[in-house]
This record gives sequence, C-alpha cells and structure tokens, in this order.
Amino acid sequence: MNAFLSWLSPLISRWRALPQWLQLILSLAIIGGFALLIFLAGFQTAYREVGPYSLLDKIDRKITSRFASQAIPALEDQTYPTILLTLSSNVAKVDTGLEPDRRGRIYQQGGGLTSLGEDVLLLPYSGQVLAARSADDIRATQIFGPDRGEAAYLEAANAPDSGMNFHLGYLRYNDFKHITRSDGTHQLVASYSEFHEADQCATNTVAVVSLPEGVTNAMELSIQPEDWQVIFRAEPCLPLKTKHFAMEGQMASGQLEYDGTSTLYLSSGDYHFDGMRTEDTPIAQDPNADYGKVIAIDLDTGVSRLLSYGHRNMQGMAIGADGALYVSEHGPRGGDELNRISPNGPYLNYGWPVASLGTAYSATPLPTAETLGRHDGYEPPVVAWMPSVALSGMTLVQGFHEAWEGDLLIGSLNDRALHRVRLQGDRALYIERIPFDTRIRQVHQHSDGRIVLWTDNQELIFLSAEDLASPAEQIPAYLASLDAPARVKAEFETVMERCIECHSLNDGNHTAAPSLARIYDNDIASTGYVGYSEALKDASGRWTHDQLTAFLMAPDDFAPGTYMPAVEIEDRRTAEEIATYLAWLDRQF
Ligand code: HEC
Repeated sequence: MNAFLSWLSPLISRWRALPQWLQLILSLAIIGGFALLIFLAGFQTAYREVGPYSLLDKIDRKITSRFASQAIPALEDQTYPTILLTLSSNVAKVDTGLEPDRRGRIYQQGGGLTSLGEDVLLLPYSGQVLAARSADDIRATQIFGPDRGEAAYLEAANAPDSGMNFHLGYLRYNDFKHITRSDGTHQLVASYSEFHEADQCATNTVAVVSLPEGVTNAMELSIQPEDWQVIFRAEPCLPLKTKHFAMEGQMASGQLEYDGTSTLYLSSGDYHFDGMRTEDTPIAQDPNADYGKVIAIDLDTGVSRLLSYGHRNMQGMAIGADGALYVSEHGPRGGDELNRISPNGPYLNYGWPVASLGTAYSATPLPTAETLGRHDGYEPPVVAWMPSVALSGMTLVQGFHEAWEGDLLIGSLNDRALHRVRLQGDRALYIERIPFDTRIRQVHQHSDGRIVLWTDNQELIFLSAEDLASPAEQIPAYLASLDAPARVKAEFETVMERCIECHSLNDGNHTAAPSLARIYDNDIASTGYVGYSEALKDASGRWTHDQLTAFLMAPDDFAPGTYMPAVEIEDRRTAEEIATYLAWLDRQF
C-alpha cells in the first residue's frame, strides 16, 4: 500500500501543479474515454436491438459492400494435382476491352472457343475474335461476330421511361464453332442472343459464314458482322419480361455441337420463361416453342427439329464417346444435371420445371413442380449435383491422356472447378472435382490435344497433361547417379520404398501423408496436408538438411507424439542422402 501511495503522490502533486483549465479538459477527456469504451462494449453485446445500432450496422454494410472487391484473383501458371495425372497450366489474361465494375466483376460474359488450324479462336463478348496458341501468343484477328442487335437493346434498356428492371450486358455470344462440311468447305458458326429492334424482342439465333477455299489461318481472314448468314432463329421472339429482369441472356444456353456430317445441335434455354418469372405456362413444356429444348438443325436443308424438351439452362454440350448428346444443365437451388439425349429420338421430356431434384432459389418447393425433389415420370439425368455447382462448358476428352480418354470434362461457375465425369454405358461411374478457384465458362479441347478454358475473369488457360511422377522410375534413376558406398545405396533403396508407401513424391498430393515434393527448406508442417499431429504443428523451424536427418533418424525424439512412424535407418549416411534427395526433389518443381 505504501509503495502504491509513494508512486501516486508525485502524480497527484504534478496534477495539482497544472492550470485549472487543463485539469478540466483532461478530466473530461478521461471520463469521455471511459464512457465511450463502456458504450462500445455494451453496443456490441446489449444494444443490438436499439435503433442506432441497426442504423450504424446498415451504414457499415453499405460501406463494406461498396468497397469490398468481388474480384476473383488472377490465376498464375501452376500445376493441378488430380487423381490420375497432373495438369500444368499456361494462363493468359486476355484484353477484351471490358472493364470490371467497381466491385471488380465483369458482367458481359459468355463467349465461345473453337480451333482453326493451329490456333484456338475465342469469340468474346466484344465480338472481335482472338487467335491464340499459348499465353504468349494471342493475336486480334479481323474476324467479327454477327450483329446481336446490342446497340438497340442497350438503347431500350437505358431509355429513361423503359420502366423495366433491365440487367445490362446479358445479350451474349453463347458459342462459337469451326466446322468442316462434308464437301470439305470450312465454316464458322456462332450462336447468340439476338435483339430485334422493330418488335423489341429477342431470339436464340445461329449464323454461319463460309471461309474462302484453302484458308484456315485466322490471320488471313476478314469477316464483318454483315457477312454472317442466319440459319436458325428460335420461335417465338421472346418479349421483354416485366418480372425480375427484362431479358435474361444468362439463361440462353446456346451451345453448339456438330456431328461431322450435316447436323448441328443447339441447346436452347428457357430464358426464365418458366411460369415463375413469367405469368404464362413454362416455355420448356410448350411444344410450339423452341426454348427449353435441344434442337437439331440440318445444315443441308435448313430444316430444324426438336430433339428433347423440359430443359432449363444448358451451358455445356458435347457428343460423348458413345455418340449420344450430353448437355450440362443448371438446376435452380440443387439439381444441376448431366443429361443424355439420343440424337435419333425418341422425343423425351426432361422434366423442367414440373420435375426437379432441387427447390426454388428461395429454398421453397418449386411452385411449378408436381413433387418435391423427385424426377419420377420424366427422363432422369445421368447424374445430378447437390448442391448446385452451376455447370458450364463441356468437352469430350480425346487424346489428352489415356487415363482420361472418353471422359466428359465440365466447367463450373459458382463452384470454380472442373468436373471430370467418367461414364460407363449410360451411367456416370464417378465425378472428380478439380478445383481451379475461378469461374470457368468454356471448356474446349484444341486440335493439338491441349484442353483450353475460358474464364469469367477473361483468362485463357491452356492445360497439358503430365504423368504422375512414378517413384518406381524416379528413385532408381536417382540412385544410379548417387555417389555413395554400396551399403548406403542399398539401404537408401529399401528405406525409400517404405517412405512411398505413405508419401507421394508428386507436388500437392497429400492423401495419407504430406507430399514430400516441396518439403525441403520449407516450414515444418506447412503443406496442404490436413492430418498433421499437434506435435509436428508445434515444431518450429524449416526442413534444413540437418533437421531432416535428425527427424528421419528418430522422428519421435524430434517431435514427440508425431504420427510419422520410425523407419529403421541403420546408417546415418543414408538419412543424410535422403535429405539430399529431398532437396533435389524440391528443385524438380
Ligand atoms: C506409415 C506411413 C509413413 C511412412 C512409412 C513414412 N512417413 Fe513420413 N510422415 C507420415 C505422416 C503421417 C506424417 C505427418 C506426421 C505428423 O503430422 O506428425 C509424416 C511426416 C513426414 C515429414 C514432415 C512433412 C512436413 O510437412 O513437415 C517428412 C519430411 C517425412 N514424413 C519424410 C518421410 C520419409 C523420408 C520417409 C521414409 C524414410 C517417411 N516419411 C516414411 C507418414 C509416414
């Protein structure tokens, strides 16, 4: 007590020496500070219900949402481990002239990918086709897409008296394809949402342009919007809606496939004319409407026929290894579907919106559906996704890597991943999800075998397949060049055989144990492996040569309680050589 007083008394005498006005100001500041602290503490706990709290909370949310960026980070070249092989990516940010909004999102999406000669061609929202061979080789061509009537649409949308809730930027190029006709002529085909100014309505439209004989180099071509010839316009022309958004081009589907002879397939979405966002009956079930349907267009005669109905939004389409047509389809909340359609009939009903495995976005039963979460009585999907992943572009994999031969590769938007579907007969055997952390819009296989992705971040990604580095091949090769006594070499070989029972030597493959590929000189317990023991997590430092040697000789002495069992190593030199090997392995990636 005495000590406390002796500490306090000089403070008190200093306080007394201050002028009175300063005493007053300081006292007020101290009291005010305490009051504010108490207020803030109480505010966080007790005052949530009172007016100012909700007001301040609202302001806070407004500020956060205004400044928070929804921008998806740009991707860089990297490897993606998958179960059967490793993907390596070559990424280019493409300049399509589009600026992200203030939240970092670009809404003018869509676009299509195809191959012409050695080039991958991209038809982006802007309409000017780009030719690319790699991330370092992207050129603007003089090929322009057909006229979508975008100027007229924007004029209607921006008219002050339109009185409609327009969603700008939703008239898109939906797909783009280079085809070779049976007579050997080359054509480009574009599918898009077309606005018709005179009637203020929109259609799913397909147009073609023939390439001059012998020209398959995009840089030698000049194609203007007026050069395109419309070969198909869906009927009826869809009026602007009065509910939600006037035009929902994101629901167009519009994917193209070609059978190699004379038939072009088109997926035609329902544009949300589904009896929920419109008053009338669902258009996908209307036998007289070309929406919510898969359509076959005969290129020789120009005649089209409906192949199937009851579809919603099919953003991916591919002819499978079995010759059937596969479409990837958005469900609402749950029930994204992979549907299989026979090009030769029968004409089947795929259920939308009277049957769906999911619910409405509001988490209530679909008002149009006959049952909740059932697909009975209608053509069921090959497989469905719960919850929804927002499936997008699709390709059949051929000649990429034998392990993936015949599989379907489907992109996803919300889920930011590729989904590889292995089919066996007419069923899906499994789905492998390969995370990409970006919204994948289109998936295309180039004529040279590479898989090419087009993302909503305006990136082109070239993917190549690499075999999983096989330890069975890798270790003997390393051993051959190892300068060590025969005894050490022999022990190295037997011990490494033990290590690879648990550890992968491939980058990023952490299943039963952390991958050893990138251990060296990195922090202890810092890979993506999820099963680390507390003991190893608590161990500090990096995996240096000496640390590794010590750990391998006696894991439990190094980190008592580690899950890594002791692998008997008799010769310290062997442990040293393994540490040197891990340093070498790290340099391989
Ligand atoms: C029976 C399975 C098994 C075997 C065999 C095995 N390990 Fe491990 N290893 C593990 C597990 C599990 C962990 C994670 C330990 C923990 O979390 O405590 C681990 C951790 C490690 C680590 C630390 C990794 C990090 O991320 O910090 C290294 C290095 C390592 N092992 C190397 C080896 C080597 C080299 C061999 C062969 C001599 C070997 N292991 C044999 C299962 C095994």
